[in-house]
Amino acid sequence: MVNRLHGGGAMVTIRDVAKKAGVSTATVSRVINKKGKITKETQLIVEEAIEELAYRPNALARSLSNRKSYAVAFIVPTITNPFFPEMARAVEDVARNNGYNILLCNTDDKRERFTEYVDSLTSQFVDGVIINSHNMEKRDLDILQKNNIPVVMMDRVLENAQATSITVQNREGARLATQHLMDIGCQRVAHISGMENEYNSAQRMWGYRDVVSDLPWFDQSWIGKAEFNVNSGYQVAKEIFSRHPDVDGIFCANDLIAIGAVKAAYEWGKKIPNDLAIVGFDGINMSEQTVPSLTTVVQPIYDMGQLAMEELIKKIENKQEKPKKYVLDVELRVRESTMRSSMKHV
Ligand code: RIB
Repeated sequence: MVNRLHGGGAMVTIRDVAKKAGVSTATVSRVINKKGKITKETQLIVEEAIEELAYRPNALARSLSNRKSYAVAFIVPTITNPFFPEMARAVEDVARNNGYNILLCNTDDKRERFTEYVDSLTSQFVDGVIINSHNMEKRDLDILQKNNIPVVMMDRVLENAQATSITVQNREGARLATQHLMDIGCQRVAHISGMENEYNSAQRMWGYRDVVSDLPWFDQSWIGKAEFNVNSGYQVAKEIFSRHPDVDGIFCANDLIAIGAVKAAYEWGKKIPNDLAIVGFDGINMSEQTVPSLTTVVQPIYDMGQLAMEELIKKIENKQEKPKKYVLDVELRVRESTMRSSMKHV
């Protein structure tokens, strides 16, 4: 029996499959959900009937019987910075391989949009949430957890929260970057940091300070505060050039800031890398394509997204999973923006 839809199309039901296979609907359901005992022969007959009728289980009915939606949300601070789409790709790959769909929630770095998402996700039927946002507060996590929604935090995380978190060695990476600039002969190294209230930015600033704060020339005026985007990096680099015309190295808190600094240097007539060497942070794909290509501290962007989704699935399937804290390694990748002519033949 085939049901007719209002528009004249046909919808195959579980009853149609059962009838064709000569079994009960409960048996068909056992085959679909891979639950309960079933002989190999019955399984094959049912699968053949499903194939022939092109039956696709109704998602809503499946959700109701499993109490799962197979939908997970990924909250990101912005989709305009390639760092986050590169991460989303990994989240989606793992989700797809495990039968989940992703709901992408872009907060545009706004607290208000973040809380709106938290409210709407708790009233919708999502199996879990991956959060990458410095706009999160403890109360948001409480709301999600009290509603029994598993949470994994990644990259921009809430410190000391009772949820699995995935971050990288930010401070160590910043030290590597700054030390590299000193090692290639820079005498005056500035830093352009990211957003003030953001944990990763703060850690990277401390890493920079670890290397330069005891040097006689250093004071606070060598640190410029930017946002994590090209335009802000461009503006703040120009401010540093006016304040300190002798600057010959800049460690930038992310790749987009570094790309803005490259543009500012070009307009200011500073040649990269001999007059001014620049290092970024992140290792987005674009950092390899710029002219000059960017030396940067590479974060394992894909691995982070992959790990976050794997951890979330574990939590969805076993709510008892204890929170874990992952801190992944970073790596300095040297490219043209710090390869001074004296080094090129090394
Ligand atoms: O480029 C975006 C930045 O925001 C990255 O460095 C990431 O770590 C983050 O928090």
